[in-house]
Amino acid sequence: MIDLRSDTVTKPTPGMVAAMSAAAVGDDVFGEDPTVNALEERVAALFGHEAGLFVPTGTMANQIAVRVHCRPQDEILIETTSHICLWEAGGAAALSGVTCRTVDSRTHNGLLSATDLEGKIRPDDMHSVRTRLVCLENTHNRGGGSCYTLEAARAISAWARAHKLGVHLDGARVWNALVKTNATAAQWGAPFDTVAVCFSKGLGAPVGSVLVGPRDLIAHGRRVRKLFGGAMRQVGYLAAACHYALDHNISRLADDHAHAALLADAVRAVPGFTLVPPEVETNLVWFEVSGRHGTAKDVAAKLKGAGVLVAPLGDTVVRAVTHLGVTRAECEAAATAIRALA
Ligand SMILES: Cc1ncc(COP(=O)(O)O)c(C=O)c1O
Repeated sequence: MIDLRSDTVTKPTPGMVAAMSAAAVGDDVFGEDPTVNALEERVAALFGHEAGLFVPTGTMANQIAVRVHCRPQDEILIETTSHICLWEAGGAAALSGVTCRTVDSRTHNGLLSATDLEGKIRPDDMHSVRTRLVCLENTHNRGGGSCYTLEAARAISAWARAHKLGVHLDGARVWNALVKTNATAAQWGAPFDTVAVCFSKGLGAPVGSVLVGPRDLIAHGRRVRKLFGGAMRQVGYLAAACHYALDHNISRLADDHAHAALLADAVRAVPGFTLVPPEVETNLVWFEVSGRHGTAKDVAAKLKGAGVLVAPLGDTVVRAVTHLGVTRAECEAAATAIRALA
């Protein structure tokens, strides 16, 4: 099976497994895991931030960020289809007592602009929640792997800071953004107060995210991580996979983007399939299927019959994602299977 359902389906490569089994470990709750400590410092330095916090998932990294930036009765300005809103099980409300003021930017593939946020700050009034944080997502999952330009991110950050709001980046796939924009992690870290990055998506690690930010916020985040049940023990074995991913798996993301372009061309060739967005910028290919093909599940079932797994997400929407577990030849085979549906 050529598994294109998600870039989270990768399995550790032999090199990664060797690095994991050779890791020096200690009790990370005591602050004694050298591999975790080195990863936290490494990722913070990479993004030009003071400190880092290793957590099991991207969801936990984002939710800790919400918690340290906000208090109950605070509000986040965030795009309607962002992961934090759609797919984190209501965490902002449930865990932090925070509301989300959603700004719909589906016509711009989930990417916000400073203009979109204009006028969205609540009045300083006891009847209102207090606007406290702006959250961006880059690349944007539901936006089809769309990618902010640095200029756009800087403009939003400048607007937020001018209004004394915090700025958080859900950078689960920021690595793809680095490659797409040919920019450094430090350049992508600078506009944000906190950045959550994942190692378990395009970078191919089995587990692991890091939240970076100012020392005081990250120290607070460490307490919140304990509260959320994410303080772990000898997790240097997992952090070693993340180090390995940083050493080996960033620049190769350009291959994933090229493979996604192959799939996108195949989707374009099928009458009744519509790429949304029409241009695929990174490794996520989202498309709508019209009734002549049945539902998204029907399309997924037909492709499964041809040896290709894609994700039906809703009645009419299909997602295919490239990653280090699929070769160019496999993506070409998947493209052929998609074209055969014409
Ligand atoms: C943009 C984005 N943010 C956060 C997450 C959450 O990551 P996790 O599944 O590790 O909780 C995901 C997961 O796919 C994601 O796509």
